[in-house]
Amino acid sequence: MIYLDYAATTPMSEQALHTYTKVAREYYGNASSLHEEGTRAQQIVTASKQVIAQALGASGRHLHFVSGATEGNFLAIYALLESVKQQDPSKNHILCSPIEHDSVLRVMNRLVAEGWEVEYMPLLDNGRVCIDQLKECCTESTALIALQLVNSELGTYQPVGEIAEIARKMDIKVHCDAVQAFGKIPIDVQALGAHSLSISAHKIYGPQGIGAIWLDPKVEWSGFFPSATSKKFRPGTLAVPSIAAFAVATKGMIEDMEAEFVRVQQLREVWLEALGGMPNPPIIEGAKSSAHQSPFILGLRFPGMEGQFLMLECDQAGVGISTGSACQSGTDEPNVSMKALGRSEQEAREFVRFSFGKGHDVEEIPHIIEKIRTIVERHYSHVSTF
Ligand SMILES: Cc1ncc(COP(=O)(O)O)c(C=O)c1O
Repeated sequence: MIYLDYAATTPMSEQALHTYTKVAREYYGNASSLHEEGTRAQQIVTASKQVIAQALGASGRHLHFVSGATEGNFLAIYALLESVKQQDPSKNHILCSPIEHDSVLRVMNRLVAEGWEVEYMPLLDNGRVCIDQLKECCTESTALIALQLVNSELGTYQPVGEIAEIARKMDIKVHCDAVQAFGKIPIDVQALGAHSLSISAHKIYGPQGIGAIWLDPKVEWSGFFPSATSKKFRPGTLAVPSIAAFAVATKGMIEDMEAEFVRVQQLREVWLEALGGMPNPPIIEGAKSSAHQSPFILGLRFPGMEGQFLMLECDQAGVGISTGSACQSGTDEPNVSMKALGRSEQEAREFVRFSFGKGHDVEEIPHIIEKIRTIVERHYSHVSTF
């Protein structure tokens, strides 16, 4: 299969796989055990934390491993809200972008049920949060802003740094889901200014089922789990082989980051040119300026053609694309990001996402475009005969 769904997950790198099996075989101790095997495992955890934290400009002491960003988003948001409740229990307002990942939107639903007032921030047509309108939404009772760094469906960058600066002046906490940004663009948590940030290993050629959150040490958070402590944010046995492989995958991303960014940017240009040259070119969603758009994600739609249909036809033709975030696929619901951008229900159903990574290159594009062109033309000629 020609795999174009790297935003959903990535294959593990050889180095990460090798590390996983080596650590599973040789460092099998429980990292909480005090004997030699436990200590050896704990050393792997500490060293891995350092590598991953360093990639965020942070200290390993403030990084906490979780089972992935879904859990990370949940735990980080609850930790920040707990700290707000301790400081000022009168605050009850949360701002969130309407195109956050499903894992954040579901937390918001739960918070509404718990009595929080969740307000979704207005977006510009390219999917970016409008900073001026956001300022107007912030009030004295605003406790938290939840905003991702890169949108997983459109690939637009959100102005997290600017928003965190505003938020800090108003004593508002900021949680940032950085899953689609980590390892692809430089992140420095100090410069970004968010109070918590989530990342996930399987988006960067690491294993599935492991992620991390960084928590600002200045925040007096308390963990969601009853047995959480300042040392152990999430209780449970640490997944040492996954953690070690996560660190190796992180290293690989950081080493290649600049070159890979330029390569994928060029790849996206070629894609856009090739799609634009089709007899029935698609509508490209997301930001037009590369300053606001990740090259790793390309969201688009062919008017009148269901995204689900194109995805299935591409699958038959050996090309793996998606209709949006993997958590929402299979629900038969129109794409959430498209609806949040004010697209009609029909337009939202047309959405498809191509996402790029290390496994494919420019030479493949004409071949893939030809397959897509055949599917699209067949569809349009079929529709026009009715
Ligand atoms: C932006 C974003 N946040 C969170 C997640 C969830 O990550 P995980 O699969 O590690 O739970 C994803 C995965 O699709 C994502 O793209």
